[in-house]
Amino acid sequence: MPKREKSAPFTVLGIETSCDETAASVVRRHADGRGEILSNVVRAQLDLHAAYGGVVPEIAARAHVDLLDAAIKQAMTEAGVGFDALEAVAAAAGPGLIGGLIVGVTTAKAIGLGLGVSFIAVNHLEAHALSAGLTDGLRFPYLLLLVSGGHTQLLIVKEVGDYERLGTTLDDALGEAFDKAAKLLGLPYPGGPEVERRAAKGRATVKLPRPMLGRPEPHFSLAGLKTALRHAALERAPLSEQTIADLCASFQEAVADVVSDRTARAMEIYEARLGPGAQKALVVAGGVAANRRLKVALEKVASAHGFRLVVPPAELCTDNAAMIAWAGAERLARGFTDDLGAPARARWPLDPDAPPALGAGVKA
Ligand code: KG4
Ligand code: ZN
Repeated sequence: MPKREKSAPFTVLGIETSCDETAASVVRRHADGRGEILSNVVRAQLDLHAAYGGVVPEIAARAHVDLLDAAIKQAMTEAGVGFDALEAVAAAAGPGLIGGLIVGVTTAKAIGLGLGVSFIAVNHLEAHALSAGLTDGLRFPYLLLLVSGGHTQLLIVKEVGDYERLGTTLDDALGEAFDKAAKLLGLPYPGGPEVERRAAKGRATVKLPRPMLGRPEPHFSLAGLKTALRHAALERAPLSEQTIADLCASFQEAVADVVSDRTARAMEIYEARLGPGAQKALVVAGGVAANRRLKVALEKVASAHGFRLVVPPAELCTDNAAMIAWAGAERLARGFTDDLGAPARARWPLDPDAPPALGAGVKA
């Protein structure tokens, strides 16, 4: 099959199976660098995991096996292109739950091999990091706040494949903290949207700590906040609906303060590193970016520091395959492809040279 020029428009199938969404998408990258989503199919497995209060890896992996073929078929049909139009097949190859990653990576390799086109192993975090290029045409460099169920990071995105991690979490991820807060208040999974809904009916009257506030390195620590919330809840048990709402509002305020402070610190470091001429843009990605209270807080921080705030639409902030296809297309445009020996990786840091955060666990 003749290869097109790297600058020509090309079409990539993306596959996402790193957690509990089974997703497939077709994205076209035009010669001018613009991205176009031709289809974006996401099959959430929420009902399979809800009873357990979190994602069960073995159930997720089996569900990916059941759902992926149909998701790919639907993505191709909705895109209105045949497999022969594909220039490459990209799959999230990590970080994430290894069983699910193996399902997506193996499927992508098989399709790529069958078609005789490139396979691209995409770092799921890189896909989140690059999604603002697809949704908003944003150019490099920019500051990224990635806040999801599995990750909490502040990164300078300099170019495709060139990231500098400024901050990470020492313990729980931000979305995980929302999920645990919800669980201890007896609210359903996923906790983030439920806590936000309840918080809207409450007042932030409960005193909770703001961990890491004012620290020079923009790291996060959320486990202590969750423990303080547990104590506050126990002191007030049995909990009325109003008390639950007040606890949710108080928790969300504490999170907004911490995220504002940590992001402001990262902005200072960004400016010091890149100099006054660099573009000042803050991109927020990951499921927690859907939180409206957080968005208001970040708008305030951004405007105080002269940064433009870019929040991709919710369906492209949460896990999806369009961002995987787009990261694949961006890599392909720069000549990065992978061979069939590329592994699925449970851990895969975006900035392997980042100094370890003192006290950080496996999430660093
Ligand atoms: O990015 P995502 O869909 O999946 C990964 O974790 O990779 O993020 C899901 C996380 C969950 O922890 C969920 O509770 C949180 O994002 N989340 C929210 C909101 N919507 C989703 N957290 C706070 N407020 C929300 N509105
Ligand atoms: Zn994610």
